Amino acid sequence: MRTDTPQTIFRKDYTPPSYLVDTVELGFDLDPARTIVASRLTLRRNPAATTRGIELHGEDIELVALRLNGKLLGKRDYTLANNLLTIRSAPDDVVLEIETLCAPDKNTTLSGLYVSNGNFFTQCEAEGFRRITFFPDRPDVMAKFTVMLRADKARYPVLLSNGNLLEEGDLDDGRHYALWEDPFKKPSYLFALVAAQLVCQEETFRLADGRDALLQVWVEDGNLDKTDYAMQSLKHSIRWDEEKYGLELDLDRFMIVATSDFNMGAMENKGLNIFNTKFVLANPRVATDIDFQGIEAVVAHEYFHNWTGNRVTCRDWFQLSLKEGLTVFRDQEFTADMIGTATGRAVTRIDQVRTLRQAQFPEDAGPMAHPVRPDSFVEINNFYTVTVYEKGAEVVRMYQTLFGVDGFRKGMDLYFARHDEQAVECDDFRRAMADANNRELGQFERWYSQAGTPVLRFEGRWDEAAQTYTLTLFQSCPATPGQPEKLPFHIPVAVGLLDAAGADMALVVDGQQRGTTAVLELTEAEQTFVFTGVTGQPVASVLRDFSAPVILQGGYTDADLLHLFSHDSDPVNRWEAGQRLAMERLLKLTGEAGANDDAAASLNLDETFIEALRKILVDETLDPAFREQCLTLPSESMVAEQLECVDPLAVHIARQFVRADLGTRLRNELLAQYEANATPGPYSPDAASAGKRALKNLALAYLNAAPDAASVALAQRQFDEADNMTDRAAALSALVAARVPQAADALAVFYDEFQNEALVVDKWFAMQALSPTTDLAAVRALMTHPAFTLRNPNRARSLVAMFCVNNPVQFHAPDGSGYAFWAEQVIALDALNPQVASRLARAMDRWRRYAPALQWQMREALQKVAGQVKLSNDVREIVGKALA
Ligand code: ARG
Ligand code: ZN
Repeated sequence: MRTDTPQTIFRKDYTPPSYLVDTVELGFDLDPARTIVASRLTLRRNPAATTRGIELHGEDIELVALRLNGKLLGKRDYTLANNLLTIRSAPDDVVLEIETLCAPDKNTTLSGLYVSNGNFFTQCEAEGFRRITFFPDRPDVMAKFTVMLRADKARYPVLLSNGNLLEEGDLDDGRHYALWEDPFKKPSYLFALVAAQLVCQEETFRLADGRDALLQVWVEDGNLDKTDYAMQSLKHSIRWDEEKYGLELDLDRFMIVATSDFNMGAMENKGLNIFNTKFVLANPRVATDIDFQGIEAVVAHEYFHNWTGNRVTCRDWFQLSLKEGLTVFRDQEFTADMIGTATGRAVTRIDQVRTLRQAQFPEDAGPMAHPVRPDSFVEINNFYTVTVYEKGAEVVRMYQTLFGVDGFRKGMDLYFARHDEQAVECDDFRRAMADANNRELGQFERWYSQAGTPVLRFEGRWDEAAQTYTLTLFQSCPATPGQPEKLPFHIPVAVGLLDAAGADMALVVDGQQRGTTAVLELTEAEQTFVFTGVTGQPVASVLRDFSAPVILQGGYTDADLLHLFSHDSDPVNRWEAGQRLAMERLLKLTGEAGANDDAAASLNLDETFIEALRKILVDETLDPAFREQCLTLPSESMVAEQLECVDPLAVHIARQFVRADLGTRLRNELLAQYEANATPGPYSPDAASAGKRALKNLALAYLNAAPDAASVALAQRQFDEADNMTDRAAALSALVAARVPQAADALAVFYDEFQNEALVVDKWFAMQALSPTTDLAAVRALMTHPAFTLRNPNRARSLVAMFCVNNPVQFHAPDGSGYAFWAEQVIALDALNPQVASRLARAMDRWRRYAPALQWQMREALQKVAGQVKLSNDVREIVGKALA
């Protein structure tokens, strides 16, 4: 916690480390109140260095003793200021012995070494290792680690660290020890230890090269009935990386450990992944289909980091997307391959597009807009963003779109051949892709350096006499903080042409046969492509499979969209046409609702749109999962993103009206689908069953958006009878949203039944927090519930962040009470855990877009936080940028 102005760090200021570390020996005497850490480092001067002194980071730890080549150093031999220990002059080869103290039970930041439910865990990415011992805590310093753990045996029977277990045994006083060695060089951010009372599910698994690896999933006692899916996901991930990329597990042992106190999703520490329980624990009784999907994706993500992140790591934190964008892309492809079918793939792609629109586009248009490879930061933890992760994954995907799956694989092979066991830059990845495919990718670099979402427009002209279709593409990109002017991007635009019957035309572009989807490469601000042999007026399907992370603006008539929605062979663009039809209507209705106090009575939806949705809803040739996505409306925040001046209440009224109107006018079809998509028999999380449940529960939600007694009874029956959490939670949400008296009873029953399942209690809070029926007073009441605490990030997010981010109509209450609450909670959280506080702080990013009466109250709340004398760098950076 600092009170001075935080310092900005620039990418251009990078200098190589003055010393390299070859080996690290760490000794831990673990005690919650007073842990002693003894470190022995062998360092050698870096021939590439431009600076001379030894520089070690250290934060919130007490230095007890420091020895250089055996000699005890005194206060005159080093300086220690601003969390940096500097030894100004030292020989070329140095052995440093450092003894420090820390207090894990006082560490509420969950960064460094901390205690959760009485157990020890670590989180070192990005800069947590310096909270454990003094070290050059930067990713370009890679060393071999040996770790000795000592702790009370009864209290901490399990002692884990990275790599392989060399030795374990008993000590005096009821203590025991374990000695671990990681055979690979690694940066400090990948260090981990666990000392705990835990149990594990384990299995030996035969790797492709014939070696056997020991796989373990460690959880608290009582949770072994919830580890199967994580274990299965791990095995699938290992197999997939072998088959898809020829990448094998390089250790004899791979461990996943779950903790309920965790700032993010999970962490890829070498051989010892530490996870938020949310992404490990699941069985049908407590976890939903979405939870199962999340586990599979996050287990895969962390496992894939073993190569993309650990074996090849980042030179500095500005390169974060080098590992995160690539690893997200890999977990996305894994998820798609696990489903296997073409529509299954499209359904996962649509989920990705929704995430970008819901979270990344707004980030890219707001005060925190930054390039995929940022140029500066105050607090690196603020840059674990949807831009670095999800837009970064889109940038990686574009290489595959340009070069095909085989070309992409060649680039990956070259990347590993060149950079294994190195710390490198995003540019190195781009160069490997370019060189492996003999392509010049200079302009492509702008995807890494320019922030903001490019806007793509198109104009098409069919010339009947010439039988040509001329497609002109235009691109531009709005200014973002610090980047007033943008240069054109290299954009792969996948295009198809539909004939009057809705069939794909065979494409010939500039004389070349291009199948039925052509990937056009747009590199100029404006560029024209000529399709020949076009015998009738086509409808263009532009940006198929969402081939680039851009906003496609205009270009379509309602008739075009209806044609695409009925026929496009590209499922992503088929869905997209429906979303555009819906968005046009939502925007019009929002305008009407805002202009008229008695709006709800006069709103109305055209029969054409209802008919288009009806046709999709009942089309049995389409996967239920796909139909569910087509029937799901853009969210309130997506609608808000389209508006220059947001009136959250009008948006809410408009969207609720459409939901209720669909519930009424499609009642029979929704009821029929509700029945047809029942999933009898034992629950299975597979994609086909999950898709059926999704469509069934969407039907239930729409029926209850205009609730009659029968719909409420349907929800009540499902709540009472369902044997799985997906159906129970959906039924409960429907009851809560329907504002019926049964909701309170059902909530009580649900809590009673699951009060000992922390992750389900989170759902219980979240469900209420995001219901438009829950006002701030109700949130405050929930905060006094004995199960509520700000100290647990999952719990704090389930109520406070859910309300502030996902309940727009209540959060933006006209009296500004939501904003005052936000300020109060950010300040309270910041004192405990700056990373969690800083995430919540971002709820105000888009304050400038709101109606003036809301805007000034939002600014006041931001100023209140900014005016705090004591504030973390994390929160200060966010509110500072919001107000700038
Ligand atoms: N590398 C982790 C992952 O994406 C995320 C860790 C982020 N931690 C943090 N404190 N910022 O899998
Ligand atoms: Zn990651």
